[in-house]
Amino acid sequence: MRIIKAKDYDEFSKKAASILAAQIALKPDCVLGLATGSTPIGTYDQLVERYERGEIDFSQVTTVNLDEYRGLGKENDQSYYYFMNKYLFDRVNIDKQRTHLPDGMAPDSEKESERYEKLIEEIGGVDIQVCGIGNNGHIGFCEPSSIFEKVTLCVDLAEATIEANKRFFESADDVPRQAYTMGVGTIMKGKKIMLLAYGEGKADILAKAFLGDITPEVPASILQLHPDVILVGDEAALSKFPDS
Ligand code: GLP
Repeated sequence: MRIIKAKDYDEFSKKAASILAAQIALKPDCVLGLATGSTPIGTYDQLVERYERGEIDFSQVTTVNLDEYRGLGKENDQSYYYFMNKYLFDRVNIDKQRTHLPDGMAPDSEKESERYEKLIEEIGGVDIQVCGIGNNGHIGFCEPSSIFEKVTLCVDLAEATIEANKRFFESADDVPRQAYTMGVGTIMKGKKIMLLAYGEGKADILAKAFLGDITPEVPASILQLHPDVILVGDEAALSKFPDS
């Protein structure tokens, strides 16, 4: 695993964006696995700035997102579909036909999960997967559990996640109770994984995930077994790591 440490959010976002920009430069028709949450917003802003300077061409890029709330439509401003358009897709020259998220309004959750898993295979798999990390160690919406989920599925959100994500909604009652997420196995198939962690609130869980036992109780801990992980963090998030 490579660890990249940034001093503040600006540097953190620039470093993460540089890795994605390098991936697109090396393989213009690459598949980017993307994430939502507050952490990657600066990274997307940086990508947009570089696009506007003529440094990145998204025209051949395909994207697949990690997850989506079940029950929120594309027009809902808390859906991840809405988020991705707002922060990235509407601002660069990406072909929207090549941007993919689970459909939060699909009537049959099993069929939708199968469709999404198959789609990822059909587009040739993910070249670089961006992940955040939840306060409880979740990646995507793979919550702490007794098993590592292999494929895309619809999950019940953990209370800790509803609590953490209610800041984006009017109240905790408005947070959907279910979500689609790539499985831990789907995420692990990504050729490269870039995990982004910002702020002291992530320090304990990051140490648990990367320095502790590999256990489905901390889903991100599986990344210790992936051969090509880049962990991008700021000084606060990485403060529990030995060389910090
Ligand atoms: C949500 C997303 C995760 C993300 C997490 C962290 O739960 N499903 O993919 O990693 O939020 O969010 P933040 O970056 O706001 O801490």
